[in-house]
Amino acid sequence: MTMAQRKLDINNWFNYDHLFDKEHAAKIAMAKASDSENYVDYLDGIDEAVLELLEIIVTYVVKRYPDMFRTDGEYIYIDHLNEKYRIQAPFDLHPLTVCGLIVMDDLYVLKKGANNIFTLRGAFLACPTGWRLQQRIGWPLHQIHDPVPQWKERLRKSMERFFLNLRPSKAIQRNNLFIQPVGELFHIVPFDKNPKCTSVDQVHIRTELQSLTRLPRSHANVFTVRTYLVPLRDLRHEPEQLEILWDHVRNFPPDIAEYKCRHLWGDVFEQFCREVLGRNDPYIAGYAEEETTSNSLGKCPAGF
Ligand code: HEM
Repeated sequence: MTMAQRKLDINNWFNYDHLFDKEHAAKIAMAKASDSENYVDYLDGIDEAVLELLEIIVTYVVKRYPDMFRTDGEYIYIDHLNEKYRIQAPFDLHPLTVCGLIVMDDLYVLKKGANNIFTLRGAFLACPTGWRLQQRIGWPLHQIHDPVPQWKERLRKSMERFFLNLRPSKAIQRNNLFIQPVGELFHIVPFDKNPKCTSVDQVHIRTELQSLTRLPRSHANVFTVRTYLVPLRDLRHEPEQLEILWDHVRNFPPDIAEYKCRHLWGDVFEQFCREVLGRNDPYIAGYAEEETTSNSLGKCPAGF
């Protein structure tokens, strides 16, 4: 199994689409909620890491998206929404909250602690996959990944080494894919708590585009996750992608199948594939078992 990652083209760090206004409004509601610490929280007050992150993100978006954002050094302005946020002390919102409100990605800040172990210091978590921020804030990276099958055996060592050696100029990007039994982007209920799907309309493909980078001054590691949610039925018009996904899903090893909750959406998914592709089995000849297995974690088979 590989970590299926590639060098981040920094021009693609943060991107926007027509959903920005809607998701931004949902994030404001999260930041203002009485239980806001379930969405955005930071354990170290206002430290060098979050100040550096805010500075970098503001510089980035103002330069790349000048039609959307501008700054006068004191505030960042989102003119089309008639909003402004302080980017200097005294802050009206925590700097990490401001960061999360101006990008479409979820943001995680990890810092190195005792024994060279990285822990999650805080996050703006608008698109969780079945967990709450308060359940895992402060945790070391390996503990966060405990539910992931084969993590300990196959990924932990290389991942920890990778985290220690990450350099500001060596940011990486990777994809992740879930098939989920409901159409919600914000998902704090574990997927396996949902009932079994009765219709293909319930099944959604969640693809994540993730990046990992080290901040040059504070040396914190920043993890970003941009989540896209597409109804499975949209793949009716993408038979080649559906074919690849079908083959991928059929070849989940048992522990991955369980982790990905295939028992909840697998039957309607099968039926849909058979109907759209007009066959009883995916037609992917010569797809070596070895290769399929190494693809089943960490890489997006649907080509997103
Ligand atoms: C290079 C870096 C990373 C790699 C290779 C990686 C890999 C993975 C993999 C393979 C999964 C299983 C997902 C799936 O295939 O369905 C996963 C899940 C997850 N990862 Fe990572 N990850 C990385 C960084 C991070 C970071 C920095 C965080 C945040 C603090 C994080 C948080 C999570 C969470 C919360 C899950 C879901 C676990 C669950 O099911 O409860 N990951 N990661």
